[in-house]
Amino acid sequence: MIGERKLEEQKLKVRGVQKTFETIQAVQDVDLHVKKGEFVSIIGPSGCGKSTILDMIAGLTTPDSGEILLDEESVTGKRGHVAYMPQKDVLFPWRTVIENVMVPLEVAGVNKKKARKEAAEFLPIFGLSEFEDRFPGELSGGMRQRASFLRTYLCKKDLLLLDEPFGKLDALTRLQMQQWLLEIWGQFKQSVLLITHDIDEAILLSDRIYVLSPRPGKIIAEVNVDLPRPRASKITTSADFTAIKSRILDDLTEH
Ligand SMILES: Nc1ncnc2c1ncn2[C@@H]1O[C@H](COP(=O)(O)OP(=O)(O)O)[C@@H](O)[C@H]1O
Ligand SMILES: [Mg+2]
Repeated sequence: MIGERKLEEQKLKVRGVQKTFETIQAVQDVDLHVKKGEFVSIIGPSGCGKSTILDMIAGLTTPDSGEILLDEESVTGKRGHVAYMPQKDVLFPWRTVIENVMVPLEVAGVNKKKARKEAAEFLPIFGLSEFEDRFPGELSGGMRQRASFLRTYLCKKDLLLLDEPFGKLDALTRLQMQQWLLEIWGQFKQSVLLITHDIDEAILLSDRIYVLSPRPGKIIAEVNVDLPRPRASKITTSADFTAIKSRILDDLTEH
């Protein structure tokens, strides 16, 4: 429940971050933050620099200026501090589900047998128990997303970066996955920064939403989502939900 979380301490701060690729300015002067235990979304049109922002937070790309702080310490350009589920499905096709999801444990130095056992314990929570020994190519899109998510989760970082995790799914599977994400997050309460271009998804999941302009991406609005939790997808038809949606649509179309 939202009231049970204090949401006081800052987990992530992004300060004055800019990024230009050759002649294309992708991100302009972005300031944002995520508090401990908070679920924050970034919404914006395609190509506005959303993935670039996550790449910079994860240290895969270094900003031209500005800084990234995690627990008040600079991690600008440094990797290994956050769990990142990139936009593209990065499961290894030659490894089974269990062999894929145990990768972060192996990387952390846990021996194979122990890593397999520990990862296997999470399969039921992530709805993957019967798919342990399947290869990614044998799974539905939703299953692959869950496996990617479990692998990200097993990085065991307090900040999860999720880049359009349900982007390629059909509407019904997407609803199921959103509900499932809310449940998992309800249990584990990490800080989450999620990217989406789906306004309903952003409102349904988030405590707060940043709205980005078309490229170069800059923050044009910050919206609090004061809807009660736990939330079910039916909330998307409520008057409070619609009011928030209408405001975000105004923000997006005014720029
Ligand atoms: N490595 C790169 N080299 C050159 N241009 C890039 C690179 N990464 C992203 N861009 C460009 O930066 C802009 C923002 O990209 P991206 O962050 O992927 O947008 P979004 O995730 O919002 O769709 C796009 O115009 C894209 O072509
Ligand atoms: Mg992207």
